[in-house]
Amino acid sequence: MYHSQDIKKRFEALNKIGIALSGETHLGRLLELTVKEARYFTNTDAGSLYLVDHDKNCLNFEVAQNDSLKKRADLKSETFKPYSLPLKKNSIAGYVAVTGEMLNIADVYNLSPEVGFEFNRDFDIRNKYRTKSMLLVAMKDTEGKIIGVLQLINSTNSQGKVVSFNANVESLISSLASQAAVAIKNAQLLKEIKDVFEALVRYSVSAIDARSPFTAGHSRRVAKHTMALARAINDTHEGPYADISFSPAQLEELNYAAWLHDIGKIGVREWVLDKQAHLSDAETDVLISRFENIKASAITETQEKRLELFHNRGESATEIKQLDSELKARINQIDEKLAFIKKINTSNLLTDSDINHLEEIYKKKYVDLEGEERNYLTDFEFENLSVRRGNLTENEIEEIQSHVTYTENIVNNIPFTGHLKRVPVFAAGHHEMLDGSGYTKHIKAENIPIQTRIITISDIYEALTAKDRPYKKSMDPIKSLAILKEEARNGKLDKELVRIFIEKKVYETQESN
Ligand SMILES: [Fe+2]
Ligand SMILES: [Fe+2]
Repeated sequence: MYHSQDIKKRFEALNKIGIALSGETHLGRLLELTVKEARYFTNTDAGSLYLVDHDKNCLNFEVAQNDSLKKRADLKSETFKPYSLPLKKNSIAGYVAVTGEMLNIADVYNLSPEVGFEFNRDFDIRNKYRTKSMLLVAMKDTEGKIIGVLQLINSTNSQGKVVSFNANVESLISSLASQAAVAIKNAQLLKEIKDVFEALVRYSVSAIDARSPFTAGHSRRVAKHTMALARAINDTHEGPYADISFSPAQLEELNYAAWLHDIGKIGVREWVLDKQAHLSDAETDVLISRFENIKASAITETQEKRLELFHNRGESATEIKQLDSELKARINQIDEKLAFIKKINTSNLLTDSDINHLEEIYKKKYVDLEGEERNYLTDFEFENLSVRRGNLTENEIEEIQSHVTYTENIVNNIPFTGHLKRVPVFAAGHHEMLDGSGYTKHIKAENIPIQTRIITISDIYEALTAKDRPYKKSMDPIKSLAILKEEARNGKLDKELVRIFIEKKVYETQESN
């Protein structure tokens, strides 16, 4: 297309390429685009791009494009594998990367021995390809530092014959390389910042998850399920979400929201997160020693009565026997009460009769060592022990639920802008249910975005199947999926998303990051 010698037209084209390059901020796509545009500009069969790694003193082969090999059905061309070359003048690309000189070679198989570099024919032999003409240009950033090498291979004329590169494309390719270098440098900087931020999010979230052995690794796995479900929706071309396709930018936004959804757990006290029984071990020890004291005071009381009997009326065998059996019965009762408390302490479901029995024990009085009359159980113990379902009191449930509010506050304070703007909304809504029965805002379906619904399903599935909860066995996937289905039937979860989650086996996706 650009065989015309009209320099003005070529510069216009170059200008367009410059605009296209500066509009691409994703490093991988930018590198591909650079090679594609340069090849289009010079009409070449193939092209590659190397980036210089100054820290490791090497050249990384990043992009390979080759039209002939792509078209050939007779030969399975090798898949591109990134590799590194030493940053030395003995290879063609290395020479350009070290010296910054442009090379315009008519035939790489006929290099003069004086040039000091060689062409490696391995690729040609393996793929039955013939590399002939080559144009290589160093890509320099604004400070003149060489950041990469653009390599164009086999310039072809209008008849499709491989020819040498015309000298008058050299300056144009050189300009293109400079423009690409600026865009690449910016994309690299952007990637570095993103990588640092992403690592910071992942490490801090993982550290917060690891405060409780029950949630270690939770957010990582929720993000994994979330991304797999979002990709499965992209691949779904039927049903209500047939037309939904998340762009890479939207996927990035969703990924951050999934990673950050429980960051607010930092605001919940550790022992509440970790609560495994109605009373902790230390609280149970206090209770047990009180019951020992109650027994001891029953014994003392009996002995006092015995002394009194002795002083008043002398020893009477029947009365003493009576006292002894009363004492025995009292001690048995106290032991039974303690055994009952120990039993319900680890129970997650109490009956009415359990509660009644507990209340009787709570109200029973004893006299402590200071002579004060007290209840068998403290108010705190009674409140905690009498929780019917699970072991969290209302205040503790409220505290745990408040993690969503903390998440919203924390994530709102991270200046997410542009395509990441809705991270706080997606993250903070993950306990809302479609029928409004969730928390903390009790919003309903129409106000719950699909991204939040995806995180909610992933979150529930992960919590059910988590293997790292020491006090409970992980639930097997079949049962957990049945619960998701049930919740969808009850109008709490999005039916279509649950269907995709199950049918596309999203839950089986292995971690990719
Ligand atoms: Fe949560
Ligand atoms: Fe969660």
